[in-house]
Amino acid sequence: MKVLMLNGSRREKGCTYTALSEVASALEKEGIESEIFFVGEQAVKGDIDSLVKTIKEKMEKSDGLVVGSPVYFAGPTAEIKAVLDRLFMGDGSFLKLKPAAAVASARRGGTTATLDVLNKYFSYAQMPIVSSRYWNMVHGSTPEDVEQDTEGLQIIRVLGKNMAWLLKCIEAGKNNGIPAPEAEDKIFTNFIKK
Ligand SMILES: Cc1cc2nc3c(=O)[nH]c(=O)nc-3n(C[C@H](O)[C@H](O)[C@H](O)COP(=O)(O)O)c2cc1C
Repeated sequence: MKVLMLNGSRREKGCTYTALSEVASALEKEGIESEIFFVGEQAVKGDIDSLVKTIKEKMEKSDGLVVGSPVYFAGPTAEIKAVLDRLFMGDGSFLKLKPAAAVASARRGGTTATLDVLNKYFSYAQMPIVSSRYWNMVHGSTPEDVEQDTEGLQIIRVLGKNMAWLLKCIEAGKNNGIPAPEAEDKIFTNFIKK
């Protein structure tokens, strides 16, 4: 089993990466592979179509998703928003029923607002949201700061363990004949007409 992790920071090996690495090592201890994919500035400066295509192909081969973002002006980065807005459009069959979680890193404030925005993508796409013993956040301006945020890192570690447990439960369910919920055709209305 594999979990794809998206790093939405502009810094490849910063605080968000440090938090995602903690998820990766918790997953590894449970025998689950992971990949940290750096979204980078290509999302806003480069070829977003090919970036989203690459991420989609990776997600098709993955069983779970973790999205990490630093807090920029009390919200997720423009880079990760640009990617998710594209990735989550369409039928989302490559996302559906795969466990997902968001992780935020901030110097000080805006983490819960950031997590709220990121979690909305998962609930739109019928992805079970994995939780921890607090909200998934670390604090600091540098990886060294985050290493000192022992409570934050514990929250992230527990998140990784919970993700591993849920992935194994889903796998066991599939192996024991529990089918995915029956899909319904989507009813699409606005508030004015049917
Ligand atoms: C453009 C920009 C905006 C930021 N806005 C906030 C903010 O609103 N609240 C906060 O606590 N930190 C803010 N920060 C600090 C980062 O969220 C924080 O240092 C984070 O841990 C960096 O993660 P990274 O190393 O993965 O990029 C901001 C940083 C930048 C570059």
